[in-house]
Amino acid sequence: MKLILLGAPGAGKGTQAAFICQKFGIPQISTGDMLRAAVKAGTPLGLQAKAVMEAGQLVSDDLIINLVKERIAQADCTNGFLFDGFPRTIPQADAMKAAGVDLDYVLEIDVPFDAIIERMSGRRSHPASGRTYHVKFNPPKVEGKDDVTGEDLVQRDDDKEETVKKRLDVYSNQTRPLVDYYQAWAKQDPAKAPQYRAISGMGSVEEITARAFQALGA
Ligand code: AP5
Ligand code: ZN
Repeated sequence: MKLILLGAPGAGKGTQAAFICQKFGIPQISTGDMLRAAVKAGTPLGLQAKAVMEAGQLVSDDLIINLVKERIAQADCTNGFLFDGFPRTIPQADAMKAAGVDLDYVLEIDVPFDAIIERMSGRRSHPASGRTYHVKFNPPKVEGKDDVTGEDLVQRDDDKEETVKKRLDVYSNQTRPLVDYYQAWAKQDPAKAPQYRAISGMGSVEEITARAFQALGA
């Protein structure tokens, strides 16, 4: 199974990716998590990405495309993978097409922008695993601690209200056009294009997981 999870910042891509990846036994490829790890480790990629991410802008297509190509060449991707937060621009989507990456599904999670602001302000993450919680909607078992490791949870640097607004703008202008891109491709070349599915991302985490599984025929 090879699929793309598409959706605005804070739509719940990371939250649902964990369940979908477990179900299909595939790795989650989150370009956001990979970039945050690079920033934390202070690698050359991280040094380039840090300021861009804090401003809510997108890292350059070339950097991201190379990062993803290297990642999907690894052995654990043989049976498939889930893209979370990638592609995010038309050139990124074109690069996957040109590389002949055969995707089965594009699954869009749709959440209105006002709900997103509330979700991001309460988000807490465990950086090492990418696990995500919400102080009100999806709290950890022990406040401020990761359920699995017991390590501290942190608030992401780009979850400040101003940055969130910028990220939503960037989404509308640069990523949202991928909805039309994949829908048009599915119509034009149904044999080759990934199947397009859209679900509502409103409701409980469990309800959305059930919708996602149904949409993916799982
Ligand atoms: P990235 O990490 O991809 O961030 P994003 O797309 O902005 O998405 P988020 O991770 O913020 O949200 P999510 O949809 O995963 O939601 P989550 O499950 O956490 O990218 C960060 C930055 O990296 C970008 O701004 C850019 O600079 C750079 N970057 C990354 N990829 C790039 C690329 N391809 N090209 C260029 N630059 C790139 O949920 C959010 C909150 O809601 C959580 O607290 C969660 O607990 C809660 N929640 C989840 N589900 C529910 C529910 N059903 N009800 C209530 N609350 C819920
Ligand atoms: Zn995420």
